[in-house]
Amino acid sequence: LPEYKAALVGASGVGKSALAIQLNYQCFVEDHDPTIQDSYWKEVALSPGGCVLNVLDTAGQPVHRALRDQCLAISDGVLGVFALDRPDSLAQLRQMRATWDPCCTRPLVLVGNKCDLASTSKEAHTAAAALAESWGTPFVVTSAKTGQGVEEAFALLIQAIQRD
Ligand code: GTP
Ligand code: MG
Repeated sequence: LPEYKAALVGASGVGKSALAIQLNYQCFVEDHDPTIQDSYWKEVALSPGGCVLNVLDTAGQPVHRALRDQCLAISDGVLGVFALDRPDSLAQLRQMRATWDPCCTRPLVLVGNKCDLASTSKEAHTAAAALAESWGTPFVVTSAKTGQGVEEAFALLIQAIQRD
């Protein structure tokens, strides 16, 4: 089976690890244990014939930026994650992408996580949809808590990688 490396990137606390664990183990982690770096392998049926997904869970904390950049360098594509209740996290993701992919050419799916929360802002949703359009990338709304959109986000990234 083909193997793809998918990096989860975004500000600290937006739910990257929770998304990785929901995809791999179908459960939700309530705690925020800041990541340094983690890696998961899973055979998934998210593309025709299936594939092996190597999920690289990166640190949102700036102190670990060098490790994050190493993961980005070896990844085939990126889930760029922000939290729908934190508009600042969308701005942070945009700044991050400008440093690792200034020409916006590498495979990416924009992920607005925590859609289960009542405190999500409509403005964040609208701004994200506009950003995704300007980048020419898909935008998916997810909840690592309920599982909504999680498989779809990874499936869209696999498609983007396969087209690349
Ligand atoms: P760093 O590793 O520090 O970069 O953070 P992270 O992006 O990996 O965040 P993490 O997955 O650890 O989640 C941070 C907090 O948000 C935890 O308390 C999670 O339980 C919570 N969380 C993550 N995803 C969701 C979600 O979809 N809905 C809700 N309600 N909470 C979430
Ligand atoms: Mg984490």
